[in-house]
Amino acid sequence: MKTLADVFREALREKGIESLGVLSKRFRKSRNKLQDVAVEIINGKGAIFRVPEKTVVAWDLYGKRVEGSHYAYAPLCMMEKFEPVLTPEELRSRLPDWPYFIIDLYHWGRHTQKEKGKVCLQVSQSYGLLRDYFTGRELAVTWANEEFRRMFNGPLDRITAYEGPTAEFLAEKEIDEVVLLDPWADEVLSEEDFDVKAFIIGGIVDTGGTKKKTTPKIGEGLESAGIKVRRRKIVLRGDVVGVPDRINRILGIILKMMVERKSMDEAVYEMQEPLHARWRLRKELPKRAIRYKVDGKTYRVVEKELFDYYSSWLKIRWEDFVKVLRELDLIALERKRIHHLNKISNTRIINGKLYRVILLKKAAMLCYNC
Ligand SMILES: C[S@@+](CC[C@H](N)C(=O)[O-])C[C@H]1O[C@@H](n2cnc3c(N)ncnc32)[C@H](O)[C@@H]1O
Repeated sequence: MKTLADVFREALREKGIESLGVLSKRFRKSRNKLQDVAVEIINGKGAIFRVPEKTVVAWDLYGKRVEGSHYAYAPLCMMEKFEPVLTPEELRSRLPDWPYFIIDLYHWGRHTQKEKGKVCLQVSQSYGLLRDYFTGRELAVTWANEEFRRMFNGPLDRITAYEGPTAEFLAEKEIDEVVLLDPWADEVLSEEDFDVKAFIIGGIVDTGGTKKKTTPKIGEGLESAGIKVRRRKIVLRGDVVGVPDRINRILGIILKMMVERKSMDEAVYEMQEPLHARWRLRKELPKRAIRYKVDGKTYRVVEKELFDYYSSWLKIRWEDFVKVLRELDLIALERKRIHHLNKISNTRIINGKLYRVILLKKAAMLCYNC
C-alpha cells in the first residue's frame, strides 16, 4: 500500500521535479522528510513553489542531501511571491482511499481516571503512527465524549472525534464491513483482510484485569447494528501471549504488515517491548525444563543457549532471560554440562513426571543461573 510520501513523490516526478528544498531550517532534522513535508501540505500549511534562486539546502525524492533546488516547500503566504507548483488541493485530490482506523471508546466509562489518561496517550501515539504512513486523518475515535475531548492532548482538529456510536459513523461513511482486532477471535489477521475500509481497535486499557473479554462486546454491538464484523487476532508464532496489547502497538503491527509488507511475526517483534517478550518467555521456558533429582532435591534446568534462540524472535536482553529464570525457579546450564549430567543420571517417572536422577553427591556440579 502506498504511503503519503509515495503519492507526493509521484506527483513531484510527474512535474519533472527531482529535488526539493526549504526556505527555512524546518524539516532539517526530520527522518522522513518527504512524508513530513507532505503532511504539512495536506494540512494546508504550505505548498511547493518554484523559486528563482536555488535553495541552500535540498534533498532528492528519497531524502538524500543534494545541491540546492529550484523547488521549495514554503508557507502558503508565499503564494503572491512565488509560483506554486503543488498546492494542498492538488495533493489532496491525489490521495488514495486509505482505510479508517477506528479506536472505539464504547467502554470509556469502565476506566479509572488513570486508565482514561492512558487511553488518551495511546490515541495520541496512534495519530503519530498514522501520520508517519498516511496523513493522520485516517484516525477516527468513536464514542468520543466531552471528557475524552478535554483529556486528549493530541491534535483534535486533525483526527475525527465522533461523539456517536461506531455503527453510526460507519453508516455515514457507507462502510458495512469491518475488521475488529480482537485477541479472543478464532481467526488470525491476514493479508486478505486488508481490503476492508475500516479497522476497529478497542479503546481499552486494562491495568486491573477488570475488562476481560470486553473487545468481543464491541463486535456484538456492531453486528446487532447490521455491520459485518471480521473478528481477527494478532499472534506471535501462533499464540497471543507476547503480542503487545496497547492500542498504538496493535495499530503499529497492522501498519507494518499492510504498508511495509512485514510478516506478522516480524511486525510483532518490531513493536514488542521486553515486558511483552517476558510474558511469552514465561510460557515458553517451562516447556524446555529438564527435571533432575540430586540427592533427593529437585532442580529444573534449561539450556543456557536457549537465550540465543528466544532472543531471535522475542525482544529480550540477557537480564530479561535471567529475570524469568529466577521467577520460574529455573537453572540455566551450558548444553555440554547438561549432556554430562544426562550421562551420569538415570531416568525415572515419579508421580507421573519424568526425572533424571543423580544419586551421588553431584550437587556442586550445578551452578545457579551461571
Ligand atoms: C488492552 S487490549 C484490551 C483487551 C480486553 N481486556 C479484552 O479482554 O478484550 C486493547 C485493544 O487492543 C486490541 N488487541 C490487543 N491484543 C490483541 C491481539 N492479540 N489481537 C488483536 N487485537 C488485539 C483489541 O482491539 C483490544 O480491544
